[in-house]
Amino acid sequence: MRHPYTRTRRRRLLAALTASFLALAGAAPAVAGDLHPSGADLRSSGAEREPSAAPALADGLALTPPMGFNNWNSTHCGPEFDESMVEGIADLFVTEGLKDAGYRYVNLDDCWALPARDADGKLVPDPARFPHGIKAVADYVHAKGLKLGIYTSAGTKTCNSAGFPGALGHEYSDAEQFAAWGIDYLKYDNCNNQGVDAKQRYTTMRDALKAATAKTGRPIVYSICEWGQNKPWEWAADVGHLWRTTGDISDSWTSMLSILKQNLPLAPYAGPGHWNDPDMLEVGNGGMTDTEYRTHFSMWSIMASPLLIGTDLRKASAATLDILGNREVIAVDQDPLGKQGTVVSSADGRWVVAKEMKDGSRAVALFNETDAPQRIATTATAVGLPAADAYTLRDLWQHRSSNTAGTISATVPPHGTVLVRVFADRRWAAHPPAVELGVDGRPLAVAGRTLTLTSTATDLGRTPARDVSVALTGPEGWTLRARSPRRAAALPTGGALRTTWAVTPPQGAPAGSYDLTLTVRYLSPGGERVSEALPLTAAVVVPPPAGTSYLSDLPWLSATSGYGPVERDTSNGERPAGDGHPITLGGVVYAKGLGVHAPSALEYYAGGACTKVTADVGVDDEKGAKGTVAFEVWADGTKVASTGVLTNAMPAQPIAADVTGAQVVRLVVTDGGDGTDSDHADWANARLTC
Ligand code: GLA
Repeated sequence: MRHPYTRTRRRRLLAALTASFLALAGAAPAVAGDLHPSGADLRSSGAEREPSAAPALADGLALTPPMGFNNWNSTHCGPEFDESMVEGIADLFVTEGLKDAGYRYVNLDDCWALPARDADGKLVPDPARFPHGIKAVADYVHAKGLKLGIYTSAGTKTCNSAGFPGALGHEYSDAEQFAAWGIDYLKYDNCNNQGVDAKQRYTTMRDALKAATAKTGRPIVYSICEWGQNKPWEWAADVGHLWRTTGDISDSWTSMLSILKQNLPLAPYAGPGHWNDPDMLEVGNGGMTDTEYRTHFSMWSIMASPLLIGTDLRKASAATLDILGNREVIAVDQDPLGKQGTVVSSADGRWVVAKEMKDGSRAVALFNETDAPQRIATTATAVGLPAADAYTLRDLWQHRSSNTAGTISATVPPHGTVLVRVFADRRWAAHPPAVELGVDGRPLAVAGRTLTLTSTATDLGRTPARDVSVALTGPEGWTLRARSPRRAAALPTGGALRTTWAVTPPQGAPAGSYDLTLTVRYLSPGGERVSEALPLTAAVVVPPPAGTSYLSDLPWLSATSGYGPVERDTSNGERPAGDGHPITLGGVVYAKGLGVHAPSALEYYAGGACTKVTADVGVDDEKGAKGTVAFEVWADGTKVASTGVLTNAMPAQPIAADVTGAQVVRLVVTDGGDGTDSDHADWANARLTC
């Protein structure tokens, strides 16, 4: 295996010189974020650093990850994919400021051509979608200062079942046609490859593009799309500018998360001109929450991934445009040092990922994979910064700067990411101290009864926070009273204001989730007024009935399932609610139970009144041999029973857990360590005794 770091110093020096020449010549687009948030220009401080790796193709292309649009994630081969869409996107790049934010490529995916080549073996654009041909679209896009990309497959046909022509055996002719049309980017897929060696197929197209662009003088960025099947990160650095590392993304949290986890370990292989590609963005397509889309965009950026917008911008919401247009986050992605962020720590779904930036700062993502709020913490030295009295901490979603004595931490909402940039600069004292908000315990209350909650406001800064006060607000009808002081004259470094609150939902409040907000207000030493808010979710719960009840007859606090919803008294059918079958384990049919798909977690309120959970568990008979899962029962934060890995071939296994005193009982199913394929898990006869 050839590792990207083993290249010689001479090549790196040459590459660095080429890169700076190109930058001077204006070939690399200026990107937002070179300026320190405090206004200081820090570019020079990183100038003597070496880039992490040479631009492998030494053609000066894709020195930062490509940014643009591709229609696939929003249209697939639907009729709305046509000339007016593509040109409409190009218009919006300009009018919505996305071009200014760095987006350049407008890329066509599969289904732009007719199924048959013409008599000369040339590709023919579908006249229904592209009545004026591709060259006309290229001219339109170029006139706006943008670039056009196209798609084909390194096979006899593309991936779509209609059978559009692929380029295998036609590489030189097709590359010439693309170059003649003025194409700037080629995505080269892997379908119908006839078993021909991948390296050979992708190298042939590289050489064909080189030959074709030598004639036109218009370079083409080359995107390898073989889904990571042949570990392209090991051989493609001098073949293409980017390579897909995984199968296709879809617009769901589980898909995005699984791709993220596959791409994170590949950090050493990325660098200027040769990038890992975890697939195009789903931001805005509707299958995730805006919190999840901010995570998607934050994590793709910290991984120095290509940022190809995959939503139809003509229909995008303000929130979507806000995410895609966040220049401080884009600057993390586009940093000219070109390093992919690496995992600093990950425990129980709390991830810290850090990316070294050219100016010496670090971008740091605090990412919460779990379904509950989590405090995620690291330090400036742990993310690679030199020891210092204090640091400037810039929140890239809130667009606010503060100072920290070294701790980088936050309570991160479920599936959320706090993305910051941390500078070991001398200007930290110009910013107010960072104050971290947190709460102990979880706000669960029975209607009309009081629960207590403790909040903390901690000064993470080097400077004191003065005139500090916290407030807790909630929905109408709720009573929220401080039972201990909620003000402090000053908090020194590390000092905390702890406040106990009595929280009472009104009598008759229906069970469910409610929003509370914890706010802190304080003055910086310079007299700046600061306020910081932490959204909290409270739940009104129903006390569990005395005696033994089937869990499928009780309301749950929360429920997640890898595919489809959790089903009561049937197996999991993977799609809409109610599509399961009778729960069947080892040939035995159960009338009661819960059907889930790994990974899954179900929470029930026990209120300290219950003693026992019992069930017969296993992989439902409806699936084949690939189904392997493991079951766990948790009493608050403690695992109190587990099964080890169970397979589809095994009969039901009894599980019994002592949950005495637990407020919350949690039933967890993991994938058994081999992915989630066929993981239909049943909690048959699941019962709770209180
Ligand atoms: C493959 C690719 C996708 C998309 C489709 C088009 O699945 O991985 O990104 O291009 O083909 O058919």
